[in-house]
Amino acid sequence: MRTPNPFIFIIFGGSGDLAKRKLIPALFKLYKEDHLPGDFVILGLGRQVFTDESYRTAMLESYSELTTDSEDSTTAEKFGQHVYYQVFDIGESQDYLGLKTRLTTLDHDYHIDGNYLYYLAIPPELFVNVATHLGNVGLQKQTNEHQWKRVILEKPFGRSLASAVQLNQALVKIFDENQIYRIDHYLGKETVQNILALRFANGMFEQIWNREHISHIEVTAAENLGVENRGGYYETAGAMRDMVQNHLLQVVATIAMDPPDQFEANAIRDEKVAIFNALRPLDDAAIQTNVIRGQYIASTIRGEKVAGYRDEFKVAPRSTTETFIALKLYIDNDRWQDVPFYVRTGKRLPTRVTEVVIHFRATPHQLFKDGQDLVSNDNQLIIRIQPDEGILVKFGMKIPGAGYAIKNVGMDFHYSDLADTSLPEAYERLLLDALLGDSTLYARADGVEAAWRWVDRILTFWEANPEFKLFGYPAGTWGPIEAVELFNDPTMDWRYPCKNLTGEDTFCEL
Ligand code: BG6
Repeated sequence: MRTPNPFIFIIFGGSGDLAKRKLIPALFKLYKEDHLPGDFVILGLGRQVFTDESYRTAMLESYSELTTDSEDSTTAEKFGQHVYYQVFDIGESQDYLGLKTRLTTLDHDYHIDGNYLYYLAIPPELFVNVATHLGNVGLQKQTNEHQWKRVILEKPFGRSLASAVQLNQALVKIFDENQIYRIDHYLGKETVQNILALRFANGMFEQIWNREHISHIEVTAAENLGVENRGGYYETAGAMRDMVQNHLLQVVATIAMDPPDQFEANAIRDEKVAIFNALRPLDDAAIQTNVIRGQYIASTIRGEKVAGYRDEFKVAPRSTTETFIALKLYIDNDRWQDVPFYVRTGKRLPTRVTEVVIHFRATPHQLFKDGQDLVSNDNQLIIRIQPDEGILVKFGMKIPGAGYAIKNVGMDFHYSDLADTSLPEAYERLLLDALLGDSTLYARADGVEAAWRWVDRILTFWEANPEFKLFGYPAGTWGPIEAVELFNDPTMDWRYPCKNLTGEDTFCEL
C-alpha cells in the first residue's frame, strides 16, 4: 500500500458536523493503520473560536471511541499533535492571507513541500467564493511537478443541471479538473467497489451481464431514520437530489457500465459517463407513470410515536418535498436495451438496507410449474451494499424425496467471513485516495452534469406541476403502495429486504 507524501489537510467547516463525525475519525483511522506519512498536518478552519488545544480536545471526542486500549490512546494523543485550528471567515479576504502565512509556517515545521488538500465541508453556494479567494492568494498553484494542491467538494454539487454547469465552469477557472475531487461517499463503500471486481474478475457473471440473460434490476436504498435535524437542508433537496442524482445513479452506472480498457480513473469514469448519457430521457408522460414520489406521515413504530415529515424541525407545514422515490429507468444501449431498472429510496422505511437485485430471465421452457413449490421462477443475484455486506445467489433446487418439488435456495458470501478483514469506512478510503491523487472513486464534471441532465427533467416537471401526486406513507412502512405499479409485469413486486441478508424465510431483522 502506498503512503501519501507529507501534506496539510485543510478543512473549511472545521468546526462543523462533518469534520467531527466523519473526516477527523477517518484520518485518525488511517493514521492508526499506518497509512499516513510521518509528516502531516490537519488544519481546521471555522468561525467558532477555538485554540489549537481546545480544538484538539473537541475533536478527540470524535475518535476516542475508536481507541480500545492504552496503546491506542497513546496513538490518539500523538495523532492529536498534528491537529491545528484557525478562526476563519470564508468571506473575508484578509483571512486568506492569514491562512497563507499559517500554511507557510506549518509547511516549514513539518517539511510538507506545498502539498495541500482543501476539503470544502461547507454549503455548496460557498464553493466558488472559497476557490476564488484561494486563487487570489495563489494557494491553488502547484509550483513544481511533484507538488500538489487538491480540493474535495462535498455534495450537493449544484441543485440543477444549470447550477452544476455553472459551478464546474467557475471552478475550472481556478483549479484544473484533475485537482478537483467531487466526493460521493457511496463510491467509497467497499461493497460498491466490489461490484466491479465481481463483474470484471469473474467470467461467469460478465458473460451473462446483459439483456439476453437479465430481465430486470432493482436498486434499493432504504433508511429507517427520518430527516433528523437536517430539515432545513432537506427542504432544498428532497430524495431526488439527496440520493438519486448522485449515490443511486452512481450505483446504477457501476452495475451497468461496460468494462473499461484498463483499471484507471479516466477509463472507468468514461464508461460511467457513457451510462449516464444513455439514460433514456423521460418526457412528461413517462415521468407521470415511471416516477412515484412520497412523503412520510406520522405513525407509531413499535409502540413509539413518530412525527410526520411536515412536523420535523425546519420543515414547512405544507411542504411537498419528497422523502421517497421509486422510479423505473432504461439505458438505451446494446447491453441494456429495454431492461427496466427499478430504483427506490426513502427515509423512515422499515429498516436501513442498500442492495442491488439482479433478476435473471427464466428458462425459456418451464418444466417445473403449476402446483409445485417454485417460489419464483427467476434466479436472483443480490448484492448487499449495507448492512450484512455480502452476496447471495438464489436459485431453485429439488426438495429431496419423491416427485419434483422445487424450492428456492440461497448461496451466500458475507464479508464478515473474510478473516481479519474489517471494512474500511467510505471516508477513510476516499480521503486516502485523494491524498494519493487517485480520483477513480470521485465523480468527474461530465458525469455529474450528465446525471443532472436526466434528473433535471423530472425536477422541472414537478416544479411546473406542483399538484402532481405526492403520496403519503406511514413512517415505518415500505413507502406508497403505488411504487409496486411501476413493474411492467403486474405479478411482480419489490424485494422487501431484512437487515439480515440470508435466512429471511426464517427470521427478518428490521
Ligand atoms: C447522504 C444523504 O449523502 O447519504 C443522507 O445526504 C443519507 O440524507 C446518507 O442519509 C445515506 O448514506 P448511508 O451511507 O448511510 O447510506
